[in-house]
Amino acid sequence: MNPRIIIVNGPNLNLLGKREPDIYGNQTFESYFERLQSLFPDVELSCFQSNIEGEIIDQLQAVGFTYNGIILNAAAYTHTSVGIGDAVKAIETPVVEVHLSNTLSREEFRHHSFIAPHAKGVILGFGLQSYELALRSFISE
Ligand code: DQA
Repeated sequence: MNPRIIIVNGPNLNLLGKREPDIYGNQTFESYFERLQSLFPDVELSCFQSNIEGEIIDQLQAVGFTYNGIILNAAAYTHTSVGIGDAVKAIETPVVEVHLSNTLSREEFRHHSFIAPHAKGVILGFGLQSYELALRSFISE
């Protein structure tokens, strides 16, 4: 059976392509996601985005006992949300935390993650390619 993997994106990531392009680049997530799907035809790849903390938690719970992998960019909630960290801890599906930017080279408040201690691993700083690297980590197991 093809692996089921979902990308879960948090707040403001719906603005990729027009949001601070010097940090996050010019490409929309939608166009990147289509390319990623075509690169991995044997993966059942889906995506979800919300600007609302509770909706992200609901989504993690909904997929977190049946999917093979979750690629999570919780965006600003990474640094603030005990609830999302607890959800990642509670579910069974492994989570790879990703960020487009290298959060460790940015403001100090971005250095802490409530998710990282419960994640399988963390990928930072490779732009949209961070998602592909996370995806490869699941399928090369
Ligand atoms: C981000 C980094 C976060 O600090 C920031 O709040 C984001 C995007 C990234 O992908 O680089 O919204 O998660």
